Amino acid sequence: MLNFKEKIAEEISKATNLNKEELENYIEVPKDSAMGDYAFPCFKLAKELRKAPPAIAAEIYEKLEMDKEAFSKVEIVGGYINFYTNSTALVKDVLSQYNEKKEKYGDSEIGKGKNVVIDYSAPNIAKPFHIGHLRSTVIGGALYNVYKFLDFNVTGVNHLGDYGTQFGKLIEGYKMWGDEYDIDSNPIDELTKIYIRINELCKQDENVLENCRNNFKKLEDKDPYCVEIWERFRKLSLKEFQRVYDMLGSTFDSWNGESFYSDKMQEVVEILEKSGRLVESEGARVIELENMAPCIIEKTNGSTTYATRDLAAILYRARNYDFDKALYVTSYEQVLHFKQVFEVAKLLGIDKKYTDGLEHVAFGMVRLKEGKMSTREGIIIKLEDLLKEAISRAEKVIEEKNPELENKEDVARKVGIGAVIFNDLSNSRIKDEIFDWDAMLNFQGETGPYIQYIYVRTKSVLEKAGYVPKFEDIDINELTDEASTNVIKTIANFSNTLEQVVDKNEPSILSRYLIDLSQSFSSFYNANKIIGEDKEKQDARLYLTYVVGNILKTGANLLGIQMPDRM
Ligand code: ARG
Repeated sequence: MLNFKEKIAEEISKATNLNKEELENYIEVPKDSAMGDYAFPCFKLAKELRKAPPAIAAEIYEKLEMDKEAFSKVEIVGGYINFYTNSTALVKDVLSQYNEKKEKYGDSEIGKGKNVVIDYSAPNIAKPFHIGHLRSTVIGGALYNVYKFLDFNVTGVNHLGDYGTQFGKLIEGYKMWGDEYDIDSNPIDELTKIYIRINELCKQDENVLENCRNNFKKLEDKDPYCVEIWERFRKLSLKEFQRVYDMLGSTFDSWNGESFYSDKMQEVVEILEKSGRLVESEGARVIELENMAPCIIEKTNGSTTYATRDLAAILYRARNYDFDKALYVTSYEQVLHFKQVFEVAKLLGIDKKYTDGLEHVAFGMVRLKEGKMSTREGIIIKLEDLLKEAISRAEKVIEEKNPELENKEDVARKVGIGAVIFNDLSNSRIKDEIFDWDAMLNFQGETGPYIQYIYVRTKSVLEKAGYVPKFEDIDINELTDEASTNVIKTIANFSNTLEQVVDKNEPSILSRYLIDLSQSFSSFYNANKIIGEDKEKQDARLYLTYVVGNILKTGANLLGIQMPDRM
């Protein structure tokens, strides 16, 4: 690969004796291509070189020896040095690289030898798998795929909420009214009803609340009756969750949830005791922290907490996965929880490498366009219903646009689910997400269906032509017009885009990229006749169409979106 940035950095490094890698980081891609394809902002060096940026620019410019084949022009504008790449060199470079790598195009070895644990999805047993968990499942799943593509060794963990005081309550409610509910046929809805009812009773009756707390303690102490009921709830819930995972195509390498750590917390408590930092506070045992609330390790009755289980999980993951990074994908409501846990983790006596590698990948809330979505107010939107609705809405759109389409059901599934996934990943994760059916299913908007639609268009062009030309047979000079080079420049950014995704743990960078690629292809398609021009032009343009289609597919699949062949 020619790697223009590297070439520029190399030359500037020769001219200034400054570090090449550092210089490479400064290089920008101007928004307006009239300002060149790459620009070097000299003000970044002003402090170091103690000169005004224009003077630095002039000095560097004097010494530059640019490769004529790679660059057609270099010029100074104010404190910037602008570089214009030679289109032929660019086209040749990008497409020959594609030809070499094919479906692996964009991959890299930055992850080689590095272990990453991604903790995502993690719904709570006996509670509905709701739309908040959708974000964790989708964001975590996309990160999982991109890390893998970049050669990281990834472990996806579904840290199920299958333990905690709420089970004490459920067990108590079940003991009292179990036979009034049809748990087998509709487990989560029925268990939720029991949960709401027992909560009400707990508010009125201290004794019931006490029993609930004790039930959880008994569960921790392996009381056979409590364990048996708990196991049944867990199994039934997992079966329901699996239906959602099947629709989303989610997979996990480990299903070790909170209960997995029940016998691993004693060690945590002992280590913390030895650290001298574990103190009594109102009957509980806590670690006091600076500038934040204390982290509760053991409750008054000796039972453990969500935080203790996360601490045990860190210890376990450090030992068993030797992670370089451990990511936790949850809503920003848990910011304090992870701050506390990551701080206390420093007392566990594990290598600094591990505590440095902990990262909370937080995301915003989901809001319906019509209003708030919340469990507490009783408007529970179940994820399964929501996905089904997406599919049926996609079906309607297809029915309107293309009633003759074959395999309508399969296409509707890909389009509907794809729309939901893309919507979830289209903005920076920390922003609240607006759930608006019409916007996310709009084929012309910045949506999943739009990307699928452009992909389908590349497919149908190739199908109409009836062949895919060989790279060796195309004439690069036929792709140096503005619309084509724009597409090629976007293609060239694929690998860098993926690296940014893992650098920031931000899948929206890839979503944005796929929109850019789709839009640049759309302009190319409108500006250039692909089929029917002379054979040379046709072959070159068909080849570009083929490459774009493949990258759209690879990119969408990394986000967890399936591509239909027609729509
Ligand atoms: N079950 C939790 C919830 O629904 C999320 C768990 C996240 N992972 C973790 N290791 N704490 O809020």
